Amino acid sequence: MQAAIITGCSRGLGLALCRQLLSRGCRVIGIARTPPSVADIGSHDGHFSFIRADPLIERALDILGPQTLSRLILINNAGVVTPMAQAGNYDHAEVNAALAINLTAPIMLTNAFLATAKGRCEDLRIVNVSSGAAVNLHPGWGIYAASKAALDHFSRHVALEQAISEQPARIAALYPGVVDTGMQDEIRQSDPLQFTQRSRFEALKNDGDLSSAEEVAQKILRCLAADDFGTEIVLDIRNYFFPEDPHELTAHQGRGLRSRRHPD
Ligand SMILES: NC(=O)c1ccc[n+]([C@@H]2O[C@H](COP(=O)([O-])OP(=O)(O)OC[C@H]3O[C@@H](n4cnc5c(N)ncnc54)[C@H](OP(=O)(O)O)[C@@H]3O)[C@@H](O)[C@H]2O)c1
Repeated sequence: MQAAIITGCSRGLGLALCRQLLSRGCRVIGIARTPPSVADIGSHDGHFSFIRADPLIERALDILGPQTLSRLILINNAGVVTPMAQAGNYDHAEVNAALAINLTAPIMLTNAFLATAKGRCEDLRIVNVSSGAAVNLHPGWGIYAASKAALDHFSRHVALEQAISEQPARIAALYPGVVDTGMQDEIRQSDPLQFTQRSRFEALKNDGDLSSAEEVAQKILRCLAADDFGTEIVLDIRNYFFPEDPHELTAHQGRGLRSRRHPD
C-alpha cells in the first residue's frame, strides 16, 4: 500500500490531491487547521485520517502503524499568499504567519519526515508545492515570493544531501500554475494599490484561463509517480507533457520546454 501525508488538505489543491490519492487506494493523512467535510473528501473506506495543525509527522506515522508501505509521500502543500502588500505596509504578524506556513513548516516537516520515516519505507518522496512567484516579479507579493524562492533552494539542498545519503529520499519543488482555488479569490480581492497586477488575475479568471484543482492535482501525482521523480528538483508542471499512458511521462519530460517562463 502507498501512503501520503498532505498539508493544507481542507480545500483547494490539497483537497483535490487527497481525493485523487484516496480514489487510487492510497492511505492519506491530511493536515490543516480545519478538517475537510465528509462530502468534500468522498468515500475512502477508512483510508483518510485528519490531524489538526500543528502538524506532526510522528503522529502521522503513528496513525499509519506498522503496515508495510511500498511508498511514503510527504506533500507540503499548505500555503498563504498574504500579506499582499508592498514593503513599508506589512503587518508584521502576517509576515511571521506567512513565513511560518510557507517556509518553516515545510522545512520542519521535511526534517521530521527524513528523521523518522527512513526506517518505515524504502521509497520516500517529498513534494514542496512552490510557485512561479519564486522566480517572477509581482510587486505586492514580496513575502510570498521570498518564501517560495527559499523553499525552492531548501529543496535543492535536501536533494543534494539525500543524493549522497544512505537510502536517499527524493524531493522536488513544483510550480502548479494558476489554480482556481480560494487563494485566487483572495488575490482578486486584494488592494490594487498594493498588488498592482490584480487586474491580470481577474482577467485570467474571466477568460477561463485558470486550471482546476483536480487537473493540477492529477499532474502533480503523475510527476510524483514518475520513475525519474526528483531528477529535476525545481519544475513548473506547465512545462510537462502528460500523455495518456501514465508510464510515458518520463519519456516526454524536458522536451525543450524547461526554459519557458510563465508569468506567475
Ligand atoms: N492557487 C494558485 O493559483 C496557486 C499558484 C501557485 C502556487 N500555489 C500553491 O499551492 C498551494 C495550495 O494553495 P491553494 O491554492 O490550494 O490555496 P487555498 O485554497 O487557500 O488552500 C490553502 C490550504 O492551506 C491550509 N493552510 C493555510 N494556513 C494554514 C496554517 N496556518 N496551518 C495549516 N494549514 C494551513 C488551508 O487549510 P486551513 O485554512 O483549513 O488551515 C488550506 O487547506 C500553496 O502552497 C500555494 O502557495 C497556488
